[in-house]
Amino acid sequence: MQTPAELAALHFASYNVPGQLYSAPGRVNLIGEHTDYCDGFVMPAAIDFSTLIAISPRTDGHLVANSVNFNQRVDYPLDPYLEHRFAERQPNSPARRDGTLTTHWSDYPAGVLWALREAGVPIENGFSLTIVGDVPLGAGLSSSASVEVATAFAVLGATSYDMPLNKIAILCRRAENAFVGANVGIMDQFVSCCGAQDHAVMIDCRSLEYTLAPIPPDVRIVICNSMVKHSVAGGEYNTRRAEIEEGTAILRAHRPEIKALRDATVQDLALWGHEMKPNVLRRCRHVITEDDRVLAAVEAFRASDLTRFGELMHQAQASFRDDFEASCPEIDILIDLANKQPGCFGARLTGGGFGGCTVNLVAATHPAAFTQAMRAGYLAATGITADIYTSRASAGAHAITL
Ligand code: GLA
Repeated sequence: MQTPAELAALHFASYNVPGQLYSAPGRVNLIGEHTDYCDGFVMPAAIDFSTLIAISPRTDGHLVANSVNFNQRVDYPLDPYLEHRFAERQPNSPARRDGTLTTHWSDYPAGVLWALREAGVPIENGFSLTIVGDVPLGAGLSSSASVEVATAFAVLGATSYDMPLNKIAILCRRAENAFVGANVGIMDQFVSCCGAQDHAVMIDCRSLEYTLAPIPPDVRIVICNSMVKHSVAGGEYNTRRAEIEEGTAILRAHRPEIKALRDATVQDLALWGHEMKPNVLRRCRHVITEDDRVLAAVEAFRASDLTRFGELMHQAQASFRDDFEASCPEIDILIDLANKQPGCFGARLTGGGFGGCTVNLVAATHPAAFTQAMRAGYLAATGITADIYTSRASAGAHAITL
């Protein structure tokens, strides 16, 4: 990908004015899947793949954005474009009903502008953007959140508008929920804002308090891309959310203090799970047990007990595959292969599910051998060449000065 200096030069060549530069990372989730929208716990880390944005203010009220990755430029009058696109993307719009609505890369920056305007940020004069990123798309590494957070940082920087990090994360999630139409939780946007180098971030998704857990120096995070595309804008993610809501409502009818599955226990399921459809019971069991695994995983990291951390990843993957039913055959192959490799403490699918990537905790002495064995094994089993990355946990979004 272009360096910040190259992006600045591209911006200047397109708009004839200098741009300010901002960067926001993607993420890998170590443990805690589909718990964020249940007010539960997650433990992601920001990765060293990111979106870079150059921004300069305009005076004509337009959003002009150049995507280097898509080699495409859009130019919209912000007012009325944001209203028009927002209306078109609502659940019952004619475009949604007749199936002609598609998601365009520019919906992510436009959605953030829409959400910033709702929050009172002065965006009416418009902006010129140049966007480039190296977070693999549709791989479950939060390319969307990194575009959203980079856009928010850029616009807030360009308007000198102060906003606390947790508000920025909430606002970016709002852009994705209400404007793009993907009903995601807070994890991806939050860690893209608050990530820290060499640390995982344990987020309490109810209070939005977070603690940093140092990643032990004798381990590396290796990410294996199954190359099976996943999309949270697609149906399965939203179906899982609906199943969780159905199960939560049944438990709440017995114990009104259960606001979200975070408040429920396996005892609650033992008492009232029989009132749920079998698939709903399994989804809820995954979420309730996953919260406990995240809390145990933080302790294991603190004690540098990688064997224990790996066991928890192993249990999390089994629960995700069997109870949440959100794995897929290619991912199962990657997990089986990883579990056979020397130096691999644990492996699980990371992100929303149904494809994307696995996250593997590998001894610092082994990533090269691990990568080689995984690539060869996966190719032999599936005919697919996996992309495999070793990433450090990196810092959250920030401005870049050249
Ligand atoms: C996607 C969503 C997150 C979270 C994960 C599953 O990444 O964006 O909010 O729900 O799936 O843990």
